Amino acid sequence: MKHTTLRDLDVSRIGLGAMGMSFGYTGAGSDDAESVRTIHRALELGVTFLDTAEVYGPYTNEELVGKAMKGRRDQVVVATKFGMISHTGRGAGQLDSSPASIHTAVEGSLKRLGTDHIDLYYQHRVDPGTPIEDTVATLADLVRQGKIRHIGLSEAGPETIRRAHAVYPVTALQSEYSLWTREVEERVLPVLRELGIGFVPYSPLGHGFLTGAIRSPEQFDESDWRRSSPRFMGENFQRNLALADEVRTIATEAGATPAQVALAWLLAKGEHIAPIPGTKRVSRVEENAAADGIELTAEQIAQLDNLPPAAGEDHNEEQMRMIQR
Ligand SMILES: NC(=O)c1ccc[n+]([C@@H]2O[C@H](COP(=O)([O-])OP(=O)(O)OC[C@H]3O[C@@H](n4cnc5c(N)ncnc54)[C@H](OP(=O)(O)O)[C@@H]3O)[C@@H](O)[C@H]2O)c1
Repeated sequence: MKHTTLRDLDVSRIGLGAMGMSFGYTGAGSDDAESVRTIHRALELGVTFLDTAEVYGPYTNEELVGKAMKGRRDQVVVATKFGMISHTGRGAGQLDSSPASIHTAVEGSLKRLGTDHIDLYYQHRVDPGTPIEDTVATLADLVRQGKIRHIGLSEAGPETIRRAHAVYPVTALQSEYSLWTREVEERVLPVLRELGIGFVPYSPLGHGFLTGAIRSPEQFDESDWRRSSPRFMGENFQRNLALADEVRTIATEAGATPAQVALAWLLAKGEHIAPIPGTKRVSRVEENAAADGIELTAEQIAQLDNLPPAAGEDHNEEQMRMIQR
């Protein structure tokens, strides 16, 4: 497995997103034993970079990751996130990155992960009720106390990134980026390059759609997040199948799977980029981890760059308001 750096943090080129093991997608939480085996297999394959969040579950995903890391902590770069649960009484569903909420959140995450430090601690969404400077100053204090090693932001816009970075160096931004979600290219990635901040694309497989394994919305159970995404609904879903088919055609030509091509395309976008594909299955973590050995030709990259845009927004309106702020 190749490695890269997010600022001064060394991570495997391909990480593992743990969210779907406990939250959001069909079958979440139904087979924790296979999820733990998946994390252990990832570590064996040299995948060092694990991604979770307080809100996944809530809480149960961090507990699962903590269980899987037991006795292997030194092999893992563990990243988690705060800010989507209020610990100061703002109410359910309210963003909260106030200093008091962070202080409560970090203690809970450390406990559930069974560790004395978090390698990369992200603000999950920008909180309009707390100046970003106050949030980052609190995180800088946690670095000084040794509770976290690096700070990150998720779905922050260019101005917020600059303001945050002026208070304390930001190690990484985590935002959605994949063959069918490319908004970061224009305004965000140039700022990261300028400031030397690493980039962690989340949902790099398009929530699984780009792999070609999802052919009908009937595959999703009632609680599946994808049921709320316009891209996965009705006519949009049917139109988007053609996109997944194009990825498959290019993958066949490249001698790879569609998931590997979706990841290899991201790796070709620059050096300090570490995607975190999510899976709860051993066989798929093996497939995804092998993407770091796939070299796409310039022609294949151009074909992928020129795929038609997806039909439908990725998030519903309420979720859209929270991203790239
Ligand atoms: N910062 C944020 O706001 C944010 C938001 C969303 C996600 N994330 C993070 O990013 C990580 C990854 O994103 P994601 O899980 O949303 O989406 P993703 O990685 O794009 O796709 C995950 C889905 O693809 C399926 N899959 C994985 N590998 C596959 C393969 N080789 N072939 C066929 N299907 C495959 C998985 O199913 P199985 O599990 O059944 O294999 C799962 O349903 C999450 O785990 C989470 O840690 C962060």
